[in-house]
Amino acid sequence: MRVLAIESSCDESAAAVLDARAGLLAHELFSQAELHRAYGGVVPELASRDHVRRLLPLVRRALERAGTGPGELHGIAYTAGPGLIGALLSGAALARSLAYALRLPAIGVHHLEGHLLAPLLEPEAPPFPHLALLVSGGHTLLIEVAAIGSYRVLGASRDDAAGEAFDKSAKLLGLPYPGGPQLAQLAEQGRAGAFSFPRPMIDRPGLEFSFSGLKTAVRHALHGRELTAQLRADVARAVQEAIVETLVAKSLRALEYTARGALVVSGGVSANRLLRERLSAAAGRAGARVYYPRVEFSTDNAAMIAMAGLKRLEAGQHDGLAIQARAQWPLESLRGLAA
Ligand code: KG4
Ligand code: ZN
Repeated sequence: MRVLAIESSCDESAAAVLDARAGLLAHELFSQAELHRAYGGVVPELASRDHVRRLLPLVRRALERAGTGPGELHGIAYTAGPGLIGALLSGAALARSLAYALRLPAIGVHHLEGHLLAPLLEPEAPPFPHLALLVSGGHTLLIEVAAIGSYRVLGASRDDAAGEAFDKSAKLLGLPYPGGPQLAQLAEQGRAGAFSFPRPMIDRPGLEFSFSGLKTAVRHALHGRELTAQLRADVARAVQEAIVETLVAKSLRALEYTARGALVVSGGVSANRLLRERLSAAAGRAGARVYYPRVEFSTDNAAMIAMAGLKRLEAGQHDGLAIQARAQWPLESLRGLAA
């Protein structure tokens, strides 16, 4: 089975072609970050319009690079939610229409299931069942993954997501949107121990997170001071330390609670190098193994949507003809492959 996939849930337009036997044949991505930078965040209407412009050329290029004609496809997968509704509809309309014209089955994929299954694109895929830490711009979740489609949320953030905490702190440091990766870079010049920010919920039992206090702490640290290069780097380092340490502590606790030996870490923040280093080391000491997608598939992409779509299409699942997308879509409401 060979599928074409389209991702358009936020500000990345992407297309990919995945073959069940030959693996990933092509993946194309256009980031709209530049377009939204002037506004300090994603502007939904601009995102939708740009998806309309970008997606079809990306699909064409992915098919070309994959050496695949439309007649060689067996199905089309697209991100149906959660995300920005206009952005989602741009991708859903294109995917659904292509499927109709080509007489192919189409499947709407849950964006977070895409992130969760991204490590299946790697040579050493994680075993099931496993525990997952999903850290993106919109979510911070610890999830018990019994099988594909069977997800139980064990803990979530009460307020800001981990990626949001990175981005909001970055903004206070004067870094352009989305600041997460730049903050991580800046942190490398920071001095250890110059600042120490709170790690909320870390001493409390349970698996919940809270990151909204971090931006207040950053604001306090910067208040009345000259924003020198060293100060910014020191603060960046302390922000990264606080977020990473919290994520590592709660992940270890979840591994202990569930007695799982495998941890999948995915979503944009899983691109963070310090998080990868610390998690792998800590999990190793606890006798568990960590599985990541390659860094370029940590952040939004269509290859992960192709993987999730392929699994469901192979199981005989597909959607009706209506063009549907869901801004909100609880992960736990998904059905398994056998259902
Ligand atoms: O998964 P993703 O691409 O989009 C969502 O579905 O949200 O995640 C984007 C988030 C942003 O908050 C971005 O700043 C963060 O992931 N991010 C990082 C790094 N790379 C991306 N945060 C910290 N360090 C990084 N290296
Ligand atoms: Zn995402």
